[in-house]
Amino acid sequence: MNHIKWPMREISAAKRIVLLFVFTLAIARFAPAQTNAPVPVWQIKADQVTAKVSPMLYGLMTEEINYSYEGGLYGELIRNRAFKANATNAVFWQTVGSAAIALDATTPLNDALNTSLKVEATQATKNFPAGIANGGYWGIPVKPKTAYQVSFFARAAAGFGGPLTVSIESADGKKIFASAEVAGLTGDWKKYAVTLHTKRVQPSKNNVFKITTASPGTIWFQNVSLFPPTFANRANGNRPDLMQLLADMHPKFLRLPGGNYLEGDYINERFDWKKTIGDISQRPGHRSPWNYWSTDGFGLLEYLGWCEDLHMEPLLAVFAGYALRHDYVKPGPDLEPYVQDALDEIEYVTGDTNTTWGARRALDGHPAPFPLHYVEVGNEDWFDKSGSYDGRFTQFFNAIKAKYPQLQVIATTEVKSSVPDLIDEHYYKSQVEMESQSHMYDTRSRTNHTKVFVGEWATRVGRPTPNMAGALGDAAWMCCMERNSDLVLLESYAPLFVNVSDLARGGSMQWPSDLIGYDALTSYGSPSYYAQVMFSTHHGDDVLATDARDLPTYTWQPPPRTRNGVPQSKPAPRQLPSLFFDATRDSQTGTIYLKVVNRAATAQPLQIDISGVQSVAAKGTAIVLQAEKPEDTNSLLAPKKIVPVTKKANKLGSSFTRTFPPYSITILELKTK
Ligand code: AHR
Repeated sequence: MNHIKWPMREISAAKRIVLLFVFTLAIARFAPAQTNAPVPVWQIKADQVTAKVSPMLYGLMTEEINYSYEGGLYGELIRNRAFKANATNAVFWQTVGSAAIALDATTPLNDALNTSLKVEATQATKNFPAGIANGGYWGIPVKPKTAYQVSFFARAAAGFGGPLTVSIESADGKKIFASAEVAGLTGDWKKYAVTLHTKRVQPSKNNVFKITTASPGTIWFQNVSLFPPTFANRANGNRPDLMQLLADMHPKFLRLPGGNYLEGDYINERFDWKKTIGDISQRPGHRSPWNYWSTDGFGLLEYLGWCEDLHMEPLLAVFAGYALRHDYVKPGPDLEPYVQDALDEIEYVTGDTNTTWGARRALDGHPAPFPLHYVEVGNEDWFDKSGSYDGRFTQFFNAIKAKYPQLQVIATTEVKSSVPDLIDEHYYKSQVEMESQSHMYDTRSRTNHTKVFVGEWATRVGRPTPNMAGALGDAAWMCCMERNSDLVLLESYAPLFVNVSDLARGGSMQWPSDLIGYDALTSYGSPSYYAQVMFSTHHGDDVLATDARDLPTYTWQPPPRTRNGVPQSKPAPRQLPSLFFDATRDSQTGTIYLKVVNRAATAQPLQIDISGVQSVAAKGTAIVLQAEKPEDTNSLLAPKKIVPVTKKANKLGSSFTRTFPPYSITILELKTK
């Protein structure tokens, strides 16, 4: 045994007392509760493989919500760049100097961007320039030694002698971080581009982008864009810090483009994919059901580029003829154009360049087809009370299978007239509800052809991002999904992103408890995010049989059921476990991954017995996510308060006892022979 030698002579008496106090506290915190309860036992039967872990299990779900793309992942920094966010006012644009601004539809750039911003700068001078300013999505982020690509379409009334000055400045106008001149405006629409370079400046976000002139005149603008560097330098690409957070999750697929965002409130507000491809100045944009405008700069090909950059597959959700406000298309001839749209969309994703839509994708800049195995028909069609989903699904299913028999087709609710390959189940729950269903799939019938995609789920505790209680509920649920991964082939948490800049009603968040938070400048992962990273990056391909006895439990009183808002009789109290597990093994290396979730406020000793292996090495690795309190969380100000810690684990073997800290998620990596 190693003895720690304190260099006591070098420590003052006062410091010794403090050290003793801290040491005692630490021991008390990790000491198991003083009860007579037997030490629970978890047996892992390494010679019994109950299932294979689906190689596609861990993925991402995404949509335009909480300013996920515009004001989030999508690199664009200008808010309302195409002036269509509001039909009457140039919202998010301000005047500089004596300029007057108005929306003007008289001489549009094109049919898609059919209005423009008219700027009348009647009294502009060198000392008093006039023009426009945009504050971005709660600020324009300025970073040191960074190149920003500016582009816009403009035209000027006769007599304008220009040039224009484009700049990034602090909101109070005291600091100019970068500026450049653009000259040569004429009476015709023309695209202008320039690069702004910042110097060695402090990162900041309380800034604006300006276009001004020192010469009087009238100028029209359209598609005003400011792009910082993007992940992998992709043109029209994504914000690097958010992409890195996602890359660290090693996702296998991306469910796109929603969610409710696929459907829209009305059919004409759906994600109409053909209007989201091609040059960004040809995309009309649309209103999202989350109540803000989308320019569709983040369109179908951008989703696919995102997949390519993170080495994941698209899981393509196709519009299925139902919009959120119960607008639906009857199955039969009325639905045919939508079915054809879905077939075209699949061809755009997967077709070679001899196909119509594959050729169009090549024209859009990506000749190589993308891999695709899963297509989902609609979203949450249990909301459609017309009963039309059965017919709608089967019409899509038959058409997709006829042309693409290799594709797996996912239904969003039960159907009778065909047999879907998978069904998408959604679970948004409290911590205790999530934990209480953490054995749900253990007993689900395996005789059906239809497998499960848990396409949206979250333990909804904490806003704007979940706290440790959320992560504990998530981990218990992920144990369940991973353990039953012969049935649950795919899972994706939702929502993925939230811009946390303005949490008031009508601000940057429409849905509280989201995996990753950010403002214009920085970002962070919630404890739930780190639980996801731990699970998706530490598992084997064999699920091992396990058994447990003497598990600690606590009493939970489920809330009364309600009918029409009136509480009914109280359900009987339930005994729920406070420990959750899952064991997998890498069949190539023999490494066993043990996942243990302790949701209790006390440290929990657990005897772990492993049979069916020759030997288990005494030394392994422990990856631990833990918090002092369930309410503890990460934030912009404390982004790494709760992160997994990787340590050496000793005294392991085929039978060992280990104490798991309160409020913790642990993965033990064991080397076996
Ligand atoms: O994730 C937020 C929303 O929840 C999704 O858009 C929708 O599918 C679900 O109801």
